Amino acid sequence: MDQSAYSRFGRANHARRRLNLCLRPTPVYLPLLLALLAIAFVTSVDARAVSYDSRDTRDLASDEATVAVPRADNFVVGSIRGQPPTTRHFNFVVSQMNGSPDGFSKPMLVVNGLFPGPTIEANQGDRIVVHVTNTLSTRTTIHWHGLYQNGTNYYDGTAGVTECGIPPGQSLTYNFTVDDFSGTTWWHAHYDTQYTDGVTGALIVHPRKYPRGFPTWDEDIVVELTDIYHAFSATILSEYLGGGGGPLTGLQLETPDSGAINGIGQYNGSTKYTNLNLKPNKTYRLRLIHTGSAAAIRFSVDYHALTVIEADSTLTQPYTVSSVTLAVAQRYSVLLTTNQPAEPARNYWMRAALKSAVAVPGANADIRGILRYGSGHAAPTAGADPGVPGSGLADLDVAKLVPAAPRTPPPATKAYTVDFSIGGKPDGGAFATMNGTSWQPLQGTTTLLQIVDAARNGSMYAPEGSSIQPGSQFLITEDSVEVVDILLVNTGPGDHPFHLHGHTPYIMGFGTGTYTGTGLNTVNPFMRDTFAVPGSGWLLMRIVTDNPGIWTLHCHIAWHMAAGLMMQISSLPSKAAQLDIPRDIVRQCSA
Ligand code: C2O
Repeated sequence: MDQSAYSRFGRANHARRRLNLCLRPTPVYLPLLLALLAIAFVTSVDARAVSYDSRDTRDLASDEATVAVPRADNFVVGSIRGQPPTTRHFNFVVSQMNGSPDGFSKPMLVVNGLFPGPTIEANQGDRIVVHVTNTLSTRTTIHWHGLYQNGTNYYDGTAGVTECGIPPGQSLTYNFTVDDFSGTTWWHAHYDTQYTDGVTGALIVHPRKYPRGFPTWDEDIVVELTDIYHAFSATILSEYLGGGGGPLTGLQLETPDSGAINGIGQYNGSTKYTNLNLKPNKTYRLRLIHTGSAAAIRFSVDYHALTVIEADSTLTQPYTVSSVTLAVAQRYSVLLTTNQPAEPARNYWMRAALKSAVAVPGANADIRGILRYGSGHAAPTAGADPGVPGSGLADLDVAKLVPAAPRTPPPATKAYTVDFSIGGKPDGGAFATMNGTSWQPLQGTTTLLQIVDAARNGSMYAPEGSSIQPGSQFLITEDSVEVVDILLVNTGPGDHPFHLHGHTPYIMGFGTGTYTGTGLNTVNPFMRDTFAVPGSGWLLMRIVTDNPGIWTLHCHIAWHMAAGLMMQISSLPSKAAQLDIPRDIVRQCSA
C-alpha cells in the first residue's frame, strides 16, 4: 500500500473524475477485426475444469466491438509442461475499445480485444516470438516483467530506455528466449500509464524441473488480480502531474474505483463474478498475479488455507497462510485443496480486498469471485470474511519467505545508496525523485541507443559509478561484473513496490527507520524482482551486473513511475554496445 504524502492537489470535494472527457467513439477497424478473428489462440487444454460466466470472444464479430473476458482456457496452464523446446508465436493487436470489467463502461486499451490479455505460456528453453501491432493513436510497448532478456536487452519493451515505442499503425516483433527464467509473471505496456487501461496479461514459464520433494498439484490456474480506474489513465495522469488543477488530491487520483479477478469485478452493486469451477478433493495451484497500478491487494478464499510455493519467480519452501497481500506487480503461487465442508453448496468467496491509501466515495474495495466445487449454482453464504476458522493461520509475512533452493549471495564489491521520495511541486503536480533526479523518457532516442552510439564514437554514455545524464537520466554504471549493493532509502511515509528489470535481486534486508548495517540475511536471502520498500524505511538489494544492457529500477505504481520514480542500471555497457539492435527499433525512434 502506498500512502505517499502530498501537500496538495486542491481540497477534496468528493467530485469523481469527469468521465465524459475521455469517452470517444470506438473506431471500428475492419483489418483489426479480421486480425482478431484470425488469431489462433488455440490450446489443447481440457478447460472443462474451469468455466466462467463471461462473454466470449465471439462478441468481437459484432459491429460495436467491446472488450471481452477471455475463455476459461486462457487461465488454465500446464498442458505444455515437459514438451521439447520449441518456438511459440503470438499475435498481439493493441487497440482501444470500451469495456466494462466491473459493470461500468469505460474506454480501455487492450490486446486482441481481451481483458485480461492472452496468456503466454512456455517452457524453460523455449523461444517466444510476439508480433505486436499498434492500432492506437499513441505509441506503445510491451514489457515482459521479470524476464532476463540476456543478449536481447533491446526487446525489454521499456519506452525511452530500450525502445521509442511502436508508432501508431506500425508493428514490432519481440523475439527472445526463456533460458534461465522460469515461473509466474506477466507482460504489460511500458509506455506512460497505458497498462492501467488494460494492456496486461499473464506470462507463465514452466521450469525444466522442480526441486526434489517440491509439492505437487492436480491443476494449474492463473488468477489475475487488478485494480480498476473508470477514467482513462492519460486523463488521470495529466491531472496528477499537475496540468489540470482539478479538485482531487494526488492520493485520491491514485485510488482505484474498483478491481477485478480474471477480468470481472463489481461496482455499484453489480453481482457478476468470475467463477472457478473446480473438482472436489483436488489440489490446485493458483498463480496469483497483481497486474494493477496502485493498490496492494489482499487475496483469500473463505475457509481455505493457502500454501505459498512461489513468490514472484522464486520457488519457496511451503508456507501455509490465511491470506497473501500482493503489492503491485508481485506474484504468488498458492496451493489450495478443495475439501472444505463449511458452505452448504461448497461454493466459496475468493476475496480481493484493495488496500487503497484513502477512501473515495463510491469506490468498491471488496472485489470477489466464486470458487465452486459443489453441484449447485448457489452463491456463497458468508458475509464478512470468515478467515480459516480454527487453523491458527496468519496472513503472509514476506520476511518469512525462504527460497526452496537456497543460495548464498557473493559478497558485495560495490555499494550505492539511493534515496527517493514523491511529493507535490509548487504548482501541485506530483513529482518524484531518486537521488534528486526525476526520470523522464528520452525523446527520439533511448538510453540503449545512446550507449551504442557513444561506444561507436569511442566514448562512454555514462562513466562508471553513479551519474546523472541529460534528459533526467540517473544511472548506475558498471563496466565489469560486480556484485552491487543498492540501499534504497524511502524518505516518505508510504511503502513503494520497486521492480528491477532483467534481474532477480537478493533481498538482503529491509526495515523501517534508518539503516544501521544490521538485520541483513547474508546466508539465505529471498530473491525476487518486485519488493516493497517500507515507508520511512530502507531495503538493501544485491545484484550481479552480468547481464549486458540498460535496466530500469522503478516504483511499479503506475502514477509514481510516470511522476519520475525511476532510475537505470547500466551493466557492461562495452558489451551492450555490441548488441545488434534490430533495425525496426532504430527506425521507430526516428519515425
Ligand atoms: Cu512490470 Cu518496468 O515493469
